[in-house]
Amino acid sequence: MAEELIISASTSKKERYRILLPQLRTLVEGEPDLIANLSNIVAGLKQSLNFFWVGFYFVKGGQLVLGPFQGPIACTRISFGQGVCGTAWKEKKTIIVPDVDKFPGHISCNSASKSEIVLPAFKDKQVALVLDVDSDTINDFDEIDQEALEELMRIVENLL
Ligand code: SME
Repeated sequence: MAEELIISASTSKKERYRILLPQLRTLVEGEPDLIANLSNIVAGLKQSLNFFWVGFYFVKGGQLVLGPFQGPIACTRISFGQGVCGTAWKEKKTIIVPDVDKFPGHISCNSASKSEIVLPAFKDKQVALVLDVDSDTINDFDEIDQEALEELMRIVENLL
Protein backbone atom coordinates (compact mmCIF):
# COMPACT_ATOMS: atom_id res chain seq x y z
CA MET A 1 0.00 0.00 0.00
CA ALA A 2 1.23 3.47 -0.83
CA GLU A 3 1.98 5.41 2.34
CA GLU A 4 2.62 8.71 0.69
CA LEU A 5 1.85 10.25 -2.67
CA ILE A 6 4.63 11.41 -4.92
CA ILE A 7 3.59 14.96 -5.75
CA SER A 8 4.82 16.42 -9.00
CA ALA A 9 6.93 19.54 -8.56
CA SER A 10 5.81 20.63 -12.02
CA THR A 11 3.55 23.64 -12.28
CA SER A 12 1.80 22.06 -15.24
CA LYS A 13 -1.46 20.51 -14.12
CA LYS A 14 -1.30 18.01 -16.97
CA GLU A 15 1.92 16.68 -15.46
CA ARG A 16 0.40 16.68 -11.98
CA TYR A 17 -2.52 14.58 -13.19
CA ARG A 18 -0.12 12.31 -15.11
CA ILE A 19 1.83 11.58 -11.92
CA LEU A 20 -1.25 11.37 -9.70
CA LEU A 21 -3.63 9.06 -11.59
CA PRO A 22 -1.52 5.88 -11.63
CA GLN A 23 -0.83 6.36 -7.92
CA LEU A 24 -4.51 6.66 -7.15
CA ARG A 25 -5.20 3.58 -9.27
CA THR A 26 -2.61 1.61 -7.30
CA LEU A 27 -3.85 2.99 -4.00
CA VAL A 28 -7.41 1.76 -4.50
CA GLU A 29 -6.47 -1.55 -6.14
CA GLY A 30 -7.19 -4.43 -3.83
CA GLU A 31 -9.06 -2.36 -1.24
CA PRO A 32 -12.75 -3.32 -1.31
CA ASP A 33 -14.12 -0.53 0.86
CA LEU A 34 -15.67 2.18 -1.33
CA ILE A 35 -15.71 4.96 1.26
CA ALA A 36 -12.06 4.37 2.15
CA ASN A 37 -11.09 4.49 -1.53
CA LEU A 38 -13.13 7.59 -2.38
CA SER A 39 -11.73 9.32 0.70
CA ASN A 40 -8.18 8.71 -0.48
CA ILE A 41 -9.06 9.84 -4.00
CA VAL A 42 -10.37 13.24 -2.85
CA ALA A 43 -7.42 13.64 -0.48
CA GLY A 44 -5.01 12.88 -3.34
CA LEU A 45 -6.70 15.38 -5.65
CA LYS A 46 -6.71 18.11 -3.00
CA GLN A 47 -3.09 17.47 -2.10
CA SER A 48 -1.75 17.30 -5.66
CA LEU A 49 -3.86 19.90 -7.45
CA ASN A 50 -4.62 22.18 -4.51
CA PHE A 51 -8.31 22.62 -5.33
CA PHE A 52 -10.55 24.64 -3.02
CA TRP A 53 -13.05 21.82 -2.55
CA VAL A 54 -13.17 18.25 -3.87
CA GLY A 55 -15.89 15.75 -3.05
CA PHE A 56 -18.30 13.05 -4.08
CA TYR A 57 -22.09 13.08 -3.97
CA PHE A 58 -23.85 9.71 -4.05
CA VAL A 59 -27.18 9.15 -5.79
CA LYS A 60 -29.23 7.91 -2.84
CA GLY A 61 -33.01 7.84 -2.36
CA GLY A 62 -33.65 10.08 -5.37
CA GLN A 63 -31.20 12.80 -4.26
CA LEU A 64 -27.50 13.49 -4.24
CA VAL A 65 -26.08 13.00 -0.77
CA LEU A 66 -22.68 14.28 0.33
CA GLY A 67 -19.92 11.67 0.46
CA PRO A 68 -16.18 11.82 1.15
CA PHE A 69 -14.78 15.31 0.57
CA GLN A 70 -11.90 17.64 1.33
CA GLY A 71 -12.45 21.31 1.98
CA PRO A 72 -14.95 23.46 3.88
CA ILE A 73 -18.31 22.05 4.99
CA ALA A 74 -20.75 21.71 2.12
CA CYS A 75 -24.43 21.25 1.21
CA THR A 76 -25.55 17.80 2.34
CA ARG A 77 -28.34 17.09 -0.17
CA ILE A 78 -28.94 18.22 -3.76
CA SER A 79 -32.06 17.45 -5.82
CA PHE A 80 -32.15 15.96 -9.31
CA GLY A 81 -31.54 18.72 -11.86
CA GLN A 82 -30.57 21.29 -9.21
CA GLY A 83 -27.29 23.16 -9.26
CA VAL A 84 -24.27 22.02 -11.24
CA CYS A 85 -24.19 18.62 -9.52
CA GLY A 86 -27.87 17.88 -10.09
CA THR A 87 -27.56 19.03 -13.71
CA ALA A 88 -24.56 16.74 -14.35
CA TRP A 89 -26.64 13.90 -12.87
CA LYS A 90 -29.68 14.77 -15.02
CA GLU A 91 -27.71 15.28 -18.24
CA LYS A 92 -25.36 12.36 -17.51
CA LYS A 93 -22.33 14.34 -18.58
CA THR A 94 -19.40 16.43 -17.39
CA ILE A 95 -20.20 20.08 -16.79
CA ILE A 96 -17.57 22.82 -16.59
CA VAL A 97 -18.73 26.12 -15.09
CA PRO A 98 -16.15 28.87 -15.73
CA ASP A 99 -18.02 31.38 -13.54
CA VAL A 100 -20.47 30.02 -10.98
CA ASP A 101 -22.31 33.37 -10.80
CA LYS A 102 -23.31 32.90 -14.44
CA PHE A 103 -24.69 29.37 -14.01
CA PRO A 104 -28.45 29.60 -13.44
CA GLY A 105 -29.37 27.71 -10.29
CA HIS A 106 -25.81 27.24 -9.08
CA ILE A 107 -25.88 26.13 -5.43
CA SER A 108 -23.39 28.16 -3.44
CA CYS A 109 -22.07 26.11 -0.53
CA ASN A 110 -19.21 28.56 -0.03
CA SER A 111 -18.89 32.07 -1.44
CA ALA A 112 -15.18 31.52 -2.13
CA SER A 113 -15.99 29.00 -4.86
CA LYS A 114 -15.73 30.69 -8.28
CA SER A 115 -15.54 27.94 -10.89
CA GLU A 116 -16.46 24.29 -10.90
CA ILE A 117 -16.32 20.98 -12.75
CA VAL A 118 -18.72 18.11 -12.06
CA LEU A 119 -18.38 14.60 -13.54
CA PRO A 120 -20.71 11.62 -13.27
CA ALA A 121 -19.71 7.98 -12.66
CA PHE A 122 -21.99 5.23 -13.91
CA LYS A 123 -23.11 1.84 -12.69
CA ASP A 124 -25.42 -0.20 -14.96
CA LYS A 125 -25.71 2.87 -17.22
CA GLN A 126 -27.20 4.95 -14.36
CA VAL A 127 -25.38 7.77 -12.59
CA ALA A 128 -24.22 6.33 -9.26
CA LEU A 129 -22.31 9.35 -7.99
CA VAL A 130 -20.77 12.62 -9.12
CA LEU A 131 -17.39 14.16 -8.42
CA ASP A 132 -17.52 17.90 -7.74
CA VAL A 133 -14.36 19.99 -7.87
CA ASP A 134 -14.45 23.69 -6.95
CA SER A 135 -11.82 26.38 -7.45
CA ASP A 136 -11.54 29.77 -5.79
CA THR A 137 -10.39 31.16 -9.16
CA ILE A 138 -12.65 32.02 -12.08
CA ASN A 139 -12.21 29.91 -15.23
CA ASP A 140 -9.91 27.37 -13.59
CA PHE A 141 -11.08 24.23 -15.41
CA ASP A 142 -10.49 23.20 -19.01
CA GLU A 143 -10.20 20.13 -21.21
CA ILE A 144 -7.06 18.99 -19.34
CA ASP A 145 -9.09 18.68 -16.13
CA GLN A 146 -12.00 17.11 -17.99
CA GLU A 147 -9.85 14.47 -19.69
CA ALA A 148 -7.91 13.56 -16.53
CA LEU A 149 -10.92 13.55 -14.22
CA GLU A 150 -12.98 11.51 -16.69
CA GLU A 151 -10.14 8.97 -16.64
CA LEU A 152 -10.38 9.06 -12.85
CA MET A 153 -14.13 8.43 -13.02
CA ARG A 154 -13.45 5.24 -15.00
CA ILE A 155 -11.19 4.16 -12.08
CA VAL A 156 -14.04 5.01 -9.68
CA GLU A 157 -16.54 3.01 -11.76
CA ASN A 158 -14.37 -0.07 -11.30
CA LEU A 159 -14.94 0.31 -7.55
CA LEU A 160 -18.74 0.48 -7.78
N1 SME B 1 -22.01 24.16 -6.31
C1 SME B 1 -22.60 22.85 -6.35
C2 SME B 1 -23.03 22.40 -4.98
C3 SME B 1 -22.00 21.58 -4.27
S1 SME B 1 -20.77 22.49 -3.61
O1 SME B 1 -20.13 23.36 -4.55
C4 SME B 1 -19.71 21.61 -2.75
C5 SME B 1 -23.78 22.84 -7.27
O2 SME B 1 -24.19 23.90 -7.79
O3 SME B 1 -24.32 21.77 -7.52
